[in-house]
Amino acid sequence: MRVTVRGFEIYKGYLDPAAQASLVSDVRQVAEAAPMFSPETPYGKPMSVRMTSAGSVGWYADRSGYRYAPQHPSGVAWPAIPEAVLTLWTDLTGLDRMPDCCLINYYGEGARMGMHQDKDEADFKWPVLSVSLGDAGLFRIGNTTRGGKTESLWLESGDVVVMGGDARLTYHGVDRIRFGSSSLLPKGGRINLTCRVVHADL
Ligand code: SIN
Ligand code: FE2
Repeated sequence: MRVTVRGFEIYKGYLDPAAQASLVSDVRQVAEAAPMFSPETPYGKPMSVRMTSAGSVGWYADRSGYRYAPQHPSGVAWPAIPEAVLTLWTDLTGLDRMPDCCLINYYGEGARMGMHQDKDEADFKWPVLSVSLGDAGLFRIGNTTRGGKTESLWLESGDVVVMGGDARLTYHGVDRIRFGSSSLLPKGGRINLTCRVVHADL
């Protein structure tokens, strides 16, 4: 079932439990090679979300700002984006252009993500694809400028969202997770994958 909220295309329950479990094992493999870390924001506060990436670049933040980095902070290359994630991308976006980065966010108990735009990429014509696994997260959708009325919805394990078109620069965030609401991850928590085209085409 697909619902559209402010241009966000939400595919509820797109991935069945077997596909979700398989993606979790893909994520574990990525995190073994490129361990999760908690970046510091440019304001000097550690993010409550832990993250790592797959792809030719990975999303990174520290006191000098938000950016894509060619390597994990340890110096190793980011692992390749798992095939199943690329297949999802192709199936739902219909694009030939593959994403350069799959950011993997882990929300433990109490983790959240403030309202923000995804704007560290070169060209906003490409959508962002988001996959939710594990505990439900309360996703808030705002406007293309900061502030104003917002709408919230729970993203559950297996839900996939395409943020494209006018919604590509819409503010969004995760207010809280319902820790322990899913049994997909033995220790609880929520994983969110976001695939992004980072580089401009030549
Ligand atoms: C993000 O905006 O990067 C993450 C969204 C989510 O966790 O659902
Ligand atoms: Fe985002």
